[in-house]
Amino acid sequence: SRRQFLAGAAAMSALPASAAAPLDAKLFPKDFLWGASTSAYQIEGALDVDGRGKDIWDTYTEQGRITDGSSAKVACDHYHRYKEDVALMKAADFNAYRFSLAWPRIVPAGTGAVNPKGLDFYDRLIDELLAAGIKPMACLYHWDLPQPLEDKGGWQGREVTGPFGDYATICAKRFGDRVDTWMMLNEPNVVAIFGYGLTDHAPGHNLGEIGILKALHHQNLAQGTGLRAIRSVLPKATLGTVTNVSPCRPESDKPEDVRAALLWDAAWNRVTLDGLLRGQLPDIVADQMRPFVQAGDLELAKFPVDLLGLNYYGRNTMKHEPGRPFNAGWGDPKAERYTGMGWPVQPDGLYDILMELKTLYGNPAMYVAENGAAYDDVVSPDGAVHDPERTLFIQEHVAQVARALKDGVNMKGYLAWSLLDNFEWAFGLSKRFGIVRVDYDTLKRTPKDSYKWFASFIKQARGI
Ligand code: NOJ
Repeated sequence: SRRQFLAGAAAMSALPASAAAPLDAKLFPKDFLWGASTSAYQIEGALDVDGRGKDIWDTYTEQGRITDGSSAKVACDHYHRYKEDVALMKAADFNAYRFSLAWPRIVPAGTGAVNPKGLDFYDRLIDELLAAGIKPMACLYHWDLPQPLEDKGGWQGREVTGPFGDYATICAKRFGDRVDTWMMLNEPNVVAIFGYGLTDHAPGHNLGEIGILKALHHQNLAQGTGLRAIRSVLPKATLGTVTNVSPCRPESDKPEDVRAALLWDAAWNRVTLDGLLRGQLPDIVADQMRPFVQAGDLELAKFPVDLLGLNYYGRNTMKHEPGRPFNAGWGDPKAERYTGMGWPVQPDGLYDILMELKTLYGNPAMYVAENGAAYDDVVSPDGAVHDPERTLFIQEHVAQVARALKDGVNMKGYLAWSLLDNFEWAFGLSKRFGIVRVDYDTLKRTPKDSYKWFASFIKQARGI
């Protein structure tokens, strides 16, 4: 499983002193978007508060599938501490922040009754952001599918599409006077692959290649439905979606490894992007998909987005491995450094994928919607959190964005993952991705060195 791969690769080596590419803040336009991303389930807590409904991650947690035995019941308690968190963003001179709206807070059963208290929370958050001069970038779906919709088949079927469109309309009507930038889904590829193929994420199914492809296709339909729903309420809004992009490369030149990487590329990158930007199925999986693709689907999936959000963490190195979806298993990335997740540190892969997207899809406006790393941070005796690996990780990736900009890629922003340490899904609270530390006993926030570096860089880049 992915977890075994991660554990196997978890060795961390010393930092090379000169690893960071030279980074000049002046390379960025003054209106470039700088900030961080979070998601509702990972930071809000208050799962049983103010009428929130149950979702698939609540169920997955109840099933005992969170490796450290923790839950998101409290998480960062952002639901009650959002003012403090916005103040942290303001102090770092963020001009943008991507967060997600919790579907089960707003429409607790997935369809039907709207929960006014859920809407009220996001009103408060959005107003606080605007008062701090930070652009709210709202994402409608960051993995918290209302359980009643999963009970009807979840992303295996197209029944979720209509309810998603209704929920999008509700949000656009309520917040559209203050929120200009709307993202539909977060990482539909990761949802499909890990939630419906490999069991590592909720809902935790093991439905093989077809299960993955169905979940991808039905999310494409939801995306197209949501985009049209919001466009009809907000004709001038900036609309897009967020997906995880990763160059998929074979471990060796062996034809079976090459085939594994090509199929993985289809599942990871192409079905989502070809669907959204071209209204096409990638050739390599088209025959497998046709049985559940209906007339009109590809037209619905396609939409002229204004802004594409990209989450980047590293390359996928694949090898032939029978018994896994697409006969594709994790190969050895042979990286010099790994993060605390065991993921290879490969900043140049970000440049590669940006250039690839520029070429393949006509250079759409794009931003890095997530990039960052977990490390086993400690609080030093002086009370500070010195996190040189994370600082270097962010520097190296920002440098690759600068390089892509110089080479004509239409980049509009860079958001770090994440503002806060938070609930890292199946790993629970054990993996820390924040540029701000959260003490889960006291809920105290401590900006790490990476936050301090990022804040000083943003100042320079924005000319403050
Ligand atoms: C991407 C996901 O969108 C986010 O929720 C997650 O915490 C990070 N990757 C790190 O795994």
